[in-house]
Amino acid sequence: MDADAQKRAAAEAALDLIEPGMKLGLGTGSTAKHFVDLLGAKVKDGLNVICVPTSQATRVQAEALGIRLTTLDDEPALDLTVDGADELDASLRLIKGGGGALLREKIVAAASGGLVIIADESKLVENLGAFPLPIEVVPFGLAATRHLVEMLAEDAGCSGIITLRQGLDGKPFQTDGGHLILDCAFEAIPDPDELDQILRFAPGVVETGLFIGVADMAILGGPDGVSMIEAEDEDEDDDESDPAA
Ligand code: 5RP
Repeated sequence: MDADAQKRAAAEAALDLIEPGMKLGLGTGSTAKHFVDLLGAKVKDGLNVICVPTSQATRVQAEALGIRLTTLDDEPALDLTVDGADELDASLRLIKGGGGALLREKIVAAASGGLVIIADESKLVENLGAFPLPIEVVPFGLAATRHLVEMLAEDAGCSGIITLRQGLDGKPFQTDGGHLILDCAFEAIPDPDELDQILRFAPGVVETGLFIGVADMAILGGPDGVSMIEAEDEDEDDDESDPAA
């Protein structure tokens, strides 16, 4: 099975989690695209779901497949979002934003009862950071924001080349929200939680591609089929650490 078949297998497994009447968030990227294709086929067969896309690209795909769409303004609480990731670790900490949709992906995930990540198993890493971390920034004061990001990242033990993402037209890539993306090639992120927190001190940073404590489950396609990683139940942890509980 090549990587694309593994992505599709993960998307197929995620489809088993979908129940009639659900309100869904639809992710962005090549893996999420498989999921939307498969969901579209189910909708054609009569499945009743309503969905919020995380990008214009996914909106166009879902519309063409006849999937009923809505917005977070009309449906502020969703049941489940299914999305891809650029990297994930065993604790379900993610790097996302390779497709440039990280802000909307994070907003839609936060509005959802659960986030299921689908990916081929090459995305599972021991330590995050080999994939350049996307950071969404406002255009105003770009050079100053980039400098501040560099300084703040160093405080979190991260350094590397930071590039302004370019679009296929050779101009700076613009997100659906009209922002820019800085791709930070840190190679390794010793403490993703600390880096995520510290980058928020930069006023020009809209959102980081670090998704921490957001995903509930990952479904990974591999050569021998799919495997799953589930997030640890925080309540269970609390119970264990509190003898009075
Ligand atoms: C888009 C994303 C994607 O989920 C991520 O880039 C993974 O994409 P793919 O499934 O094509 O590998 O975060 O912003």
